[in-house]
Amino acid sequence: MRRNRLRLAGLLAAVLVAVTAPAAEARPEPPTLADLAQRHGRYFGSATDNPELTDAPYTALLGSEFDQITPGNGMKWYATEPQQGVFDFSQGDEIVDLARANHQKVRGHTLVWHSQLPGWLSDREWTADELRAVLKKHIQTEVRHYRGKVFAWDVVNEAFNEDGTYRETVFYRTLGPGYIADALRWAHQADPRVKLYLNDYNIESIGPKSDAYYRLAQELRAQGVPLHGIGLQAHLALQYGYPATLEDNLRRFSRLGLDTALSEVDIRMYVPADEAKLATQAAWYRDLTEACLAVRRCVGITLWDYTDKYSWIPAFFEGEGAALPWDEQLRPKPAYYAIREALK
Ligand code: G3I
Repeated sequence: MRRNRLRLAGLLAAVLVAVTAPAAEARPEPPTLADLAQRHGRYFGSATDNPELTDAPYTALLGSEFDQITPGNGMKWYATEPQQGVFDFSQGDEIVDLARANHQKVRGHTLVWHSQLPGWLSDREWTADELRAVLKKHIQTEVRHYRGKVFAWDVVNEAFNEDGTYRETVFYRTLGPGYIADALRWAHQADPRVKLYLNDYNIESIGPKSDAYYRLAQELRAQGVPLHGIGLQAHLALQYGYPATLEDNLRRFSRLGLDTALSEVDIRMYVPADEAKLATQAAWYRDLTEACLAVRRCVGITLWDYTDKYSWIPAFFEGEGAALPWDEQLRPKPAYYAIREALK
């Protein structure tokens, strides 16, 4: 009897140790970038691309550190309407499903762009009537498909040249500048709730290209065209200097009643990276995060993928890279800690 009681006491002690030990050892998880950004009413996101989703350590971080996702390619025209009138949303859907499983919101990217168009569209001439019909159908089919699944769309991407003139795309050449207002109206008809953006690079500073957006936004708002935000891509490069007027620029768009977003952030450098370059990069990431936090209507920040492992930079700019806050081994770089500091 006594031996039984002793055995029972031993068993109870073992159970108690088993139950309490992990709790005693467990440390609270540090807040993620998303957690920190949410305290400011902002999101902190990353782009991703379908081929990368088989990389489990990569998707684990993607799913935990961020609360917003942008498909890097999967919602573009070549992917979604590979033949005229034949729509394929499988790549975008894969990313939307993953984002939903991780409670992340999705920015739709992008409906109208001169690049990555399907051959059937770019390889022939169109009359204005034909192209208007093609454009309207593409926009409305895609926006309807993702209604309620994306919170924002980059409706028109990269519409201006560096000097602020319209880029001579097939849409501009065939339809004139009014294609932008039409695209916004058609998108709004298809999903009256989704936020509609114009998005471009090299518009972080005040200058001819961002002035062109400012003027266009003023006109569109005055005409009652549904435009809700401007996406500043923020593909920065150490050799070109930090866009010192970023905060003022964000603020002037806010004053027009528009949201802004830093929509495709990366900060490239000549490789190899060294301590000094990484420190400057970290300071820039901190500064752009602070600039967004300082302007109420800057709604969030999206990295153009979060790791150097999947950055677009080395393939497009020879000798450059190391642009993101995580390195190729998915280890956080000084930039990551600088962003945390800025968000605290
Ligand atoms: O799909 C083909 C694949 O079949 C082929 O084997 C492979 C070989 O090169 O190429 C694949 O296509 C690549 C595509 O990405 C999908 O991975 C293209 O070559 C490549 O040029 C393309 O690059 C994309 C780039 O847009 C095109 O301009 C990048 O991944 C994407 O991150 C980048 O994103 C843009 C934004 O949409 C707009 N702002 C600028 C930003 C950076 O360029």
